[in-house]
Amino acid sequence: MRVILTVLCFLSYYFCCCFPAAVAVKSAQYHSHSHSHSRPHSYLKAVNVWPKPIKLQWPQPKVTSLSADFTIKGPRNHQHLVAAMDRYLGVIRSEHHMPLVNPDVTISNSNPLEVLLIKVDDLTAILQHGVDESYNLTIHDVTSKAVLSAKTAWGAMRGLETFSQLVWVGGGREQLLIPVGLDIWDSPMFAHRGLMLDTSRNYYGVEDILRTISAMSWNKLNVFHWHITDSHSFPLLLPSDPNLAVRGSYGPFMQYTPADVVRIVRFGLDHGVRVIPEIDSPAHTGSWAGAHPEIVTCAGMFWWPAESEWANRLASEPGSGQLNPLHPKTYQVMKKLIKDLVSLFPDPFYHSGGDEVIPGCWTTDPDIQTFLANYNSTHNETTTNGLSRLLEIFVNSTLPYITSYNKTSIYWEDVLLDSTIRVEDSSVLPPEHTILQTWNGGPLNTKRIVSSGYRVIVSSSDYYYLDCGHGSFPGNDSQYNQPPGTDQGNGGSWCGPFKTWQLIYNYDITYGLTEKEKRLVLGGEVALWSEQADSTVLDSRLWPRASALAESLWSGNRDDSGKKRYAEATDRLNEWRYRMVSRGVRAEPIQPLWCVRNPGMCNTLHASG
Ligand SMILES: *[C@@H]1O[C@H](CO)[C@@H](O)[C@H](O)[C@H]1NC(C)=O
Ligand SMILES: *[C@@H]1O[C@H](CO)[C@@H](O)[C@H](O)[C@H]1NC(C)=O
Ligand SMILES: *[C@@H]1O[C@H](CO)[C@@H](O)[C@H](O)[C@H]1NC(C)=O
Ligand SMILES: *[C@@H]1O[C@H](CO)[C@@H](O)[C@H](O)[C@H]1NC(C)=O
Ligand SMILES: *[C@@H]1O[C@H](CO)[C@@H](O)[C@H](O)[C@H]1NC(C)=O
Ligand SMILES: *[C@@H]1O[C@H](CO)[C@@H](O)[C@H](O)[C@H]1NC(C)=O
Repeated sequence: MRVILTVLCFLSYYFCCCFPAAVAVKSAQYHSHSHSHSRPHSYLKAVNVWPKPIKLQWPQPKVTSLSADFTIKGPRNHQHLVAAMDRYLGVIRSEHHMPLVNPDVTISNSNPLEVLLIKVDDLTAILQHGVDESYNLTIHDVTSKAVLSAKTAWGAMRGLETFSQLVWVGGGREQLLIPVGLDIWDSPMFAHRGLMLDTSRNYYGVEDILRTISAMSWNKLNVFHWHITDSHSFPLLLPSDPNLAVRGSYGPFMQYTPADVVRIVRFGLDHGVRVIPEIDSPAHTGSWAGAHPEIVTCAGMFWWPAESEWANRLASEPGSGQLNPLHPKTYQVMKKLIKDLVSLFPDPFYHSGGDEVIPGCWTTDPDIQTFLANYNSTHNETTTNGLSRLLEIFVNSTLPYITSYNKTSIYWEDVLLDSTIRVEDSSVLPPEHTILQTWNGGPLNTKRIVSSGYRVIVSSSDYYYLDCGHGSFPGNDSQYNQPPGTDQGNGGSWCGPFKTWQLIYNYDITYGLTEKEKRLVLGGEVALWSEQADSTVLDSRLWPRASALAESLWSGNRDDSGKKRYAEATDRLNEWRYRMVSRGVRAEPIQPLWCVRNPGMCNTLHASG
């Protein structure tokens, strides 16, 4: 019943801007109980930009209307900036965002705002890691114009987004309003602000990916890390080796064609979002066996033989298969694949995967068994073990090929930190060509990586994994059949519990690092592994939790005094989530609507125990 009422309430708010009588009375009662509860700075609701800009000044909070002829003027000789300017003009004119809490501001009698002027210093800067994304935005009070200046087109796109979020509908009449006399100086704290999506365990349509990239750009996230393939399916149709997808995808309607990739990459550029592909290898490659059975070990075998120890599993989850580092054809396939990938994806970063190489899978292969026996007879325990040597051979035979295309390769942390199979000869993983992405061990593994001299991208599963907390997916699992009263622990999810937006927001990715080590932290990514997700739940799994990451990596999670600002962020995130929903992304709610309409009334004022 409560659910139905909320839905009704939302619907009526969207479509006729009024509330069902019962709800209106209820909130009126609460208002009378709380009339002494003042709403300081409620005008600040008028500048609800997410992520919050680094610096914003609005000394005399006044707003003006947006002229019916409002326009955006800027350089027309940069195709992606032109696409962004045209798109934002459409958004600004058509969005008609009505804040959940109406800002209490003075409407100035200055002229309506006529134009946003965009100035860009360097239109040649390409979208890549570390490109200057700073911008300044001034909305003048008297001259009826706004000026957005940026070093690059990509910074201009960030400023356009900020501008679009400053517009709302109010003032009694259906008019578009915007703050005037306002100055913003803004630039990101971390250059790499990403979202990883796994499209192998379950497939997502191109439209799902485009919608995700749009929503990323609203949040100033700039890296779409596309975990395209895994053991479960190989949906990418490669020009030089189409059989990988023909035999390895879930079917002809669950593939990405080269034209789809071109469209996604271009859409990313139009939104200032880099697209980094990941073809995970040598593990997580069971799906390659359809096209190339001879190069995949343990493909199609049951992942965890009955009665055996976890150490003797063939894969970390159902769906086994690893590339054989000793088979020459492995490298023929890899080279054709890498060549196709570098021509489809222009970004200078390329993700090679490299996680969870499992001994039991490789040792099912007779050639590998022979190699290991020979290796053992000529080496002893003080040297690299034979299995790690196999990984070194694989990396040493593929990474130089990737770097020959001037690409920097990202690997999951396992290639350095796995307890059994890792690269021990550092000449194989040169830090100048290699970035490691951490997912285990929280701040400790970040520290281990940077103290070894590698740049790091933080995706700690303790904080940033959006799939956690939904139980485990293997069937026939007796842990769910326990006597009543049994402690349910993490509910079967290896990385449970669910990662709340607050947990994500508050995580400091440079925790415990020296100043020198901090400089090797490029940024972070939230990750959605898709064993239990597809397009039906995509938006709500991602949003607004990815927004929490976005703000904490753009302008941080602290206020000017250095105090964590999660309390104040709650109200802003509510409002932002609501605007994202009206823009067409089904972000999940973080509070009852009642809390939003009764600011402060839902807060905790004591340490929760
Ligand atoms: C923004 O303004 C500051 C100070 O006025 C200036 O130093 C900076 O270069 C400007 N940034 C951009 C992107 O124009
Ligand atoms: C090789 O030696 C390691 C210990 O160094 C041992 O665990 C492994 O079983 C040996 N493998 C073979 C194939 O002999
Ligand atoms: C192990 O091998 C290294 C190098 O081959 C050698 O120096 C060392 O003496 C060997 N140790 C043992 C215990 O055999
Ligand atoms: C890596 O490959 C290069 C070139 O083939 C070779 O010279 C080097 O010894 C290899 N390194 C290792 C650790 O295998
Ligand atoms: C790699 O970069 C170098 C130096 O910038 C350039 O000369 C070379 O042509 C590039 N190679 C490729 C394959 O892009
Ligand atoms: C379910 O698991 C039990 C062991 O816990 C096993 O005996 C049984 O065969 C399994 N059933 C199926 C259908 O896999």
